[in-house]
Amino acid sequence: MKPIYIPEPFRIKSVEPLRILTREEREQKIAEANYNVFSLAARDVCIDLLTDSGTGAMSTAQWAGVMMGDESYAGADCYYKVQQAAKKIFGLPHVQLVHQGRAAEKVLLPILLEGKKYAIANMHFDTTRAHVELAGARAIDCVVPEALDTTAYFDFKGNMDCEKLEAYIRDLGAENIGVIIMTITNNSAGGQPVSVENIRRTREIAHRYGIKFMIDAARFAENSYFVKQREPKFKDSSIAEIVRATFEDADCFAMSSKKDAIVNMGGLIGCRDKNIFELVKQRTISFEGFITYGGMSGRDIEALAQGLIEGIDENYLKYRIGQMEYLAARLEEGGIPFQSPVGGHAVFVDAKKLLPHIPYYEFPAQALAVELYREAGIRACDIGSFMLGNDPETGKQLEADFEFTRLAIPRRVYTQSHLDVIADALINIKERADEIKGYKIVEEPPILRHFTAKLRPL
Ligand code: F0G
Repeated sequence: MKPIYIPEPFRIKSVEPLRILTREEREQKIAEANYNVFSLAARDVCIDLLTDSGTGAMSTAQWAGVMMGDESYAGADCYYKVQQAAKKIFGLPHVQLVHQGRAAEKVLLPILLEGKKYAIANMHFDTTRAHVELAGARAIDCVVPEALDTTAYFDFKGNMDCEKLEAYIRDLGAENIGVIIMTITNNSAGGQPVSVENIRRTREIAHRYGIKFMIDAARFAENSYFVKQREPKFKDSSIAEIVRATFEDADCFAMSSKKDAIVNMGGLIGCRDKNIFELVKQRTISFEGFITYGGMSGRDIEALAQGLIEGIDENYLKYRIGQMEYLAARLEEGGIPFQSPVGGHAVFVDAKKLLPHIPYYEFPAQALAVELYREAGIRACDIGSFMLGNDPETGKQLEADFEFTRLAIPRRVYTQSHLDVIADALINIKERADEIKGYKIVEEPPILRHFTAKLRPL
């Protein structure tokens, strides 16, 4: 039986034209960009899959909110509106606005890590890891081993390995661990979901050892949709009920609103403890702005209050995850390897398997990203050894666990025809995979090199 995908649950009222360059023009643009997709001008890209963050399309109700936004410095209407929406959805008593996810991390993590040596997560997103390290602690990842096998089916590849977590706590000493973080969905493992059962178990372990439990909530709604599909206990629950179960008894959360809340800019912090919230407010005022706007414009706050509600709509989520499943099914049919089952916000193509002749130090996932641009003007990015960089001590190239080319799908932006173009482009590339060459770095900065490094084809 063929799966049934629901149509885009919206119609298009305003369009943004796309430029379609010729293959010769694209060859020239990518060479001028030194084979780094971050150096391409967006106007030279046809389908932009660099990220799903801040790239979503707002609804008519959100755009109407933009006009309604109250720009008062203190106590604006939109502030009360977003407080009400966020408290109702997440169930935590204290909520603080900040301008994006990493700002939430910058404000919150030093409070939790004061005098501590470690943070443990299922997997830290890059900015979370950076803020743990800036706070003077070490970030340890503890994902289930199933996540590492891209071909094996497992319902919740984002889960925490709870046995290993307890072993870490005993070895490192509970008193040295400032926070245990659950990233939902688990972006670095391929947008993979985490079960509510695993969240509860992890939280119970954290609390048993007197450690704070935090959720990185960037993709909380997509995670809840997977829970509804795959965790039998929740099959009859509403998304709103699953979100409440997810955040039940969590001490705090940090969230980038640029993903599941479908806004172009924004972030949130939630906490249960009044004393932590007092510190959060103080730090927000110095880093972000007064507490009732936290680095956001009133119009963006208004759009966020509405986006939080639209983001947990079940039909929207069915369409959203359906897009991933549709693209994944087409790739599977075409024999393209990817992290399977597909995650919530992106398809992570397994470049190690597609281009087995390119070793990690010649960056197969980067080579595939460049090839996708050449083939169809599609911009994806490397999540592999090119992104990982060099060992800070020896200066030698590190080998990543995965060589993924990430196709992140913006929310409500591209139609099924765009997805077909993406699948067809990859299938074409597969046919001449053995002709594709690796890359050499000719210039790189010492940290976060993948954003600006220059490369040349081998
Ligand atoms: N946490 C997770 C799980 C994320 O995926 C991101 C951002 C952040 C925190 C930081 O949020 O960008 O608002 O400061 N992820 C984007 C991505 C950049 O492309 O995956 P931010």
